[in-house]
Amino acid sequence: MIYRLAGIEDLEGIMALEKDSLEHPWSKEDVRVMLTSNRYHAIVCVDVDRIVGYAGASYVIDEAEIGNICVNSEYRRQGIGSRIWRELEANLRCKNVKTVFLEVEESNASARAMYEKLGFVSYNVRQDYYGHKKSAVLMKNNL
Ligand SMILES: CC(C)(COP(=O)(O)OP(=O)(O)OC[C@H]1O[C@@H](n2cnc3c(N)ncnc32)[C@H](O)[C@@H]1OP(=O)(O)O)[C@@H](O)C(=O)NCCC(=O)NCCS
Repeated sequence: MIYRLAGIEDLEGIMALEKDSLEHPWSKEDVRVMLTSNRYHAIVCVDVDRIVGYAGASYVIDEAEIGNICVNSEYRRQGIGSRIWRELEANLRCKNVKTVFLEVEESNASARAMYEKLGFVSYNVRQDYYGHKKSAVLMKNNL
């Protein structure tokens, strides 16, 4: 497995992963913006020539927000999501980011468990943020 910064050449691989792994994948245009903006960092995990995990975060001054993190369903529970976060965290630290924010659906137990294990703490809940009875938990991590 190789972990590295993502570039525009990863667009198709990331879209394939998004479509395989997520109920609501990002649009190709949103992923393209993420990969070409100098305010984003994205990390991919590559197995031979296939992208099996990725995460992206936008940052402004000393704050960042995770836009997405996902791992191919065949590769979960092997530490890949956590390792991707550590790679992203190291890159954000180099940019002097001090606090990372994210929002996660309240019912997404696996993601919430991972974030808590990685040191994120909940600080608010937005009711019905993703739709009726689909609340968002807001979490943050001080680097
Ligand atoms: C959330 C996600 C990225 C985790 O990736 P992963 O590579 O499986 O995570 P890790 O193997 O690093 O797991 C780290 C810890 O998270 C927790 N965890 C992860 N998946 C879990 C699950 N299904 N049930 C309970 N705990 C879980 C565990 O504490 C785990 O540590 P352990 O395996 O030593 O017990 C992956 O499940 C995924 O892609 N989900 C769909 C996309 C998504 O919901 N993204 C989040 C959007 S906010």
